[in-house]
Amino acid sequence: MTSRKRTTANLDWKNLPFGYVKTNANIRYYWRDGVWSEGEVVSDENISISVAAPCIHYGQQAFEGLKVFETKSGEIVAFRPEENAMRLNRSCERIFMPAIPEKLFVDAIHRVVAANVEFVPPYGTGASLYVRPLIIGVGPRVGLGPAEEYIFIVLVSPVGPYYKGGFKPVEALVVEQFDRAAPLGVGDCKVGGNYAAGLAGSEYGKKHGFPIVLFLDPREKVYLDEFGTSNVVAIHGDAYVTPKSPSILPSITNRSLAVIAEDLGMRVEWRQIAIDEVQYFSEIGAVGTAAVITPVYRIRYRDRDFTFGKPDVAGPMLTKLYEQLTGIQYGEIEDRHGWLDVIEV
Ligand code: PLP
Ligand code: COI
Repeated sequence: MTSRKRTTANLDWKNLPFGYVKTNANIRYYWRDGVWSEGEVVSDENISISVAAPCIHYGQQAFEGLKVFETKSGEIVAFRPEENAMRLNRSCERIFMPAIPEKLFVDAIHRVVAANVEFVPPYGTGASLYVRPLIIGVGPRVGLGPAEEYIFIVLVSPVGPYYKGGFKPVEALVVEQFDRAAPLGVGDCKVGGNYAAGLAGSEYGKKHGFPIVLFLDPREKVYLDEFGTSNVVAIHGDAYVTPKSPSILPSITNRSLAVIAEDLGMRVEWRQIAIDEVQYFSEIGAVGTAAVITPVYRIRYRDRDFTFGKPDVAGPMLTKLYEQLTGIQYGEIEDRHGWLDVIEV
């Protein structure tokens, strides 16, 4: 049983930003000669790698993001970690890195969470423990090619909402002058280069007062791709509509919400969505692990403004979906799809 009383770190849990907090430890595994090491839990926040490591020259790295919660009954649970394991392995395959066995991935999360248990935010604070697995290609290599050695690291940080105010509407800007991904590139993988490519758009958005930016499909610039940090979900009548595109990250949150939407009797549509269709939607949200569901009140596209609902409150369908998802994550609503992975601490 995990529901015994635990001590918690002295943090202002209800006002945590989405940021890095130094915790007790991270966990590291080394891949050499085709074999992963046993993994070591270390308190050192720094890593030492060759100045010629491919991850820092050619961007040979991939990462993941998932959350751990304390439930109402005091259990510590990870949300669908095996899905992150699968997605990380797709990223690894695409950029020639070794696979990480699912068991090793999930064990790594259990071990690092157990080593940092006082940093899991207490139930009722609305915060969570963000888990960031990453893999980097190391060992010296200057010519272009995959690394010969790899390090898989999992670090954690207690976090609050990614966008200010949590479940409060934000305004988004379409940045068609920038692409985060190429048509046959790695937009559907969680690799650092996509985020570096997205920085120009997101910094441009912030400078113009938009906390979140929306990228269009890089081939035709007609269809919605995704936000810089999250997938797009729209409500159209009784339908849950979300873009289908080869250049977006397949979001685990989006897929989970689509299942919840079906449970709620909604129709789910995965399809191309032209930017001009946006005007017919009643609600739009940015969905992802960090963003959870962030409602979008206004989308600025060129000199047009599309608005959805009210500027200060989320719409009714996104509210229902948010309550269901977070209710499951915090153990307030039955985990009917078996999404919670209990961590013994
Ligand atoms: N799209 C992008 C670009 C992201 O960075 C994320 C976050 O991981 C998502 C979508 C949402 O994916 P998930 O729900 O699996 O966190
Ligand atoms: C996540 O939601 O896990 C992400 O990786 C998004 C990132 C920009 C914080």
